[in-house]
Amino acid sequence: MGDLSKGRAWSQMPSQAFKDYRSTQKRAPTQAPVKLDGGWDRSISLSPVWPKTGEHDANLTANGRINGDPIGERIIVEGRILDDKGRPVPNALIEIWQANAAGRYVHREEIHPAPIDPNFLGAGRCISDADGYYRFITIKPGSYPWGNHRNAWRPAHIHFSIFGAGLAQRLVTQMYFPGDPTLPYDPIFNSTTDAAIRNRMVSRFSMEDTVPQWAHCYKFDIVVAGAYATPFEEGHSHG
Ligand SMILES: [Fe+2]
Repeated sequence: MGDLSKGRAWSQMPSQAFKDYRSTQKRAPTQAPVKLDGGWDRSISLSPVWPKTGEHDANLTANGRINGDPIGERIIVEGRILDDKGRPVPNALIEIWQANAAGRYVHREEIHPAPIDPNFLGAGRCISDADGYYRFITIKPGSYPWGNHRNAWRPAHIHFSIFGAGLAQRLVTQMYFPGDPTLPYDPIFNSTTDAAIRNRMVSRFSMEDTVPQWAHCYKFDIVVAGAYATPFEEGHSHG
């Protein structure tokens, strides 16, 4: 993978400070980036850093299991990591994190009064194969409230982080579900202001890849650079 940031269409990306997304007002940079003396340390971008992933790392219905299956709707989330020319990006580290079926994260600062699922951790990872393909088994996350404004609810979403050939090539985004009624009201989703570009973050239900008697499949291709890039969060953390 080359220098991903070079090919990114910055005008299509969400603004670091978006009025309706309140916490961005405080954390967005107020000054221009500083150029590093001595330029770019190529070792940052070229060093391969990924350990081998474990057998259950990509199966969130198994990797947090204590004494049974997690509660909720089992789903498959799969797709390809692609560059600006539509070529597959192999060996990318893809990490996801999400709420459980009730809309609850395993996090000490979580205050949403919804149950923790003792068999669901809500985090997983895998590495894209030679065709840029990745696949997770997980539980469909629930919507949860947040304090942005009165009656603010995050649409169901899965957080994605993609590392390329090194730690310096990190892209962070969120995957949403088609037909979610709360999407039009979500300032994080809407901080990507162009509707067509915003909808690149909405996954597609696939009946062809749905496994009979087992799980629905949602497809989510991620384009890491160029005019068709998936919108990425710059400096946003969790919402
Ligand atoms: Fe979230």
